Amino acid sequence: MEILKNFDLKSLNTLQLQAFAEFYTELHSEEDIQRILADATFANIPKRVLGGGSNLVMPTLVQGLVLKVSNTGKALLKEDATHWYVQSSAGENWHDFVQWTLAQGFWGLENLSLIPGTAGAAPIQNIGAYGVEVKDFIDSVSAISLRDGSKRVFSNSECEFAYRDSYFKNAGKDQWIIWDVTFKLPKANRLALDYGDIRKEAERLGTGLNPRTVAQAVINIRQSKLPDPKQIANAGSFFKNPIIPTALRDQLLNTYPHLVSFQYGEAQCKLAAGWLIDQAGWKGKSAGPVGMFEKQALVLVNRGEATAEDVWGLAQQVSADVYAKFGVEIEPEPIRW
Ligand code: EPU
Repeated sequence: MEILKNFDLKSLNTLQLQAFAEFYTELHSEEDIQRILADATFANIPKRVLGGGSNLVMPTLVQGLVLKVSNTGKALLKEDATHWYVQSSAGENWHDFVQWTLAQGFWGLENLSLIPGTAGAAPIQNIGAYGVEVKDFIDSVSAISLRDGSKRVFSNSECEFAYRDSYFKNAGKDQWIIWDVTFKLPKANRLALDYGDIRKEAERLGTGLNPRTVAQAVINIRQSKLPDPKQIANAGSFFKNPIIPTALRDQLLNTYPHLVSFQYGEAQCKLAAGWLIDQAGWKGKSAGPVGMFEKQALVLVNRGEATAEDVWGLAQQVSADVYAKFGVEIEPEPIRW
């Protein structure tokens, strides 16, 4: 394996921020990890794990060693009367993996089509879209400790999944290299058609209400609203949808009758951060090389040669304006290195 110095990370983060890694290498096998951990040169320097770089804000100088997870492979491990157990190596592209499951006739992940990033990153932020969260299909996650190279299998409950959150973003942050993920896909699944325009778009396609049609509907809707990172640099939703007490939502409705919210558990509501940012006047607006996307205000885009400082500068202005108008805090969604 090759260890590179002063490695340019611009093409490895979908926000296309200018960033250099002090050291960089790719991990193709478990032996690669053991070699790195046994190398005294790297014993006391920070190690950062990189997947698809699509939910990440990198500083201009990334100190330490960046480890790009590059293992590949996907397979049906077993099936029983009720489920398929499918495994993906962490380095696999998420969308390609989802399309592969559908081609094999396994379903459940269709609403998560076209989400950028790798399969190994999916559990970290519990990716979700169009009424589905990946946590509902994860059986286990196997990971290798950055401290001592030991391997551990995390059950679904040990991953401590929540909305755009997991153990790996909290107590387990920077401690593990997720190496493969096992999905448990129910054979008696139901299509999730109730979010937004999914049903309408699937019916319009006229290819029958089946998982592949739903995947195509999701792809079409995403392409119409969200910028393709290959054309306009971005990291998906830049803020989480804030969760607030229902009583506070009801109070806000008095002033803002068009406020977009969804019930979340018994006494809480999730507000559409995109709507709040839109109403605060930031949709399509820029600050230097960065701005909030004109078709979906929740997505921060890099239109030039931005650095992490530009990104955090804009994020700060946007969240301050939302707070000033609505009294609601919005929290960044991508991981900050
Ligand atoms: N809205 C506006 N103006 C905007 C953006 C949104 O008024 O500029 C309104 C919409 O009209 C809609 C509501 O806000 O009524 C919600 O918008 P949308 O359906 O686009 O979803 P979202 O809540 O903004 C979340 C996820 C997306 C995911 C979509 C669809 C988060 C942080 N984001 O966005 O995930 O694709 O739902 O399920 O939960 C991502 O995480 O990177 C991501 C793209």
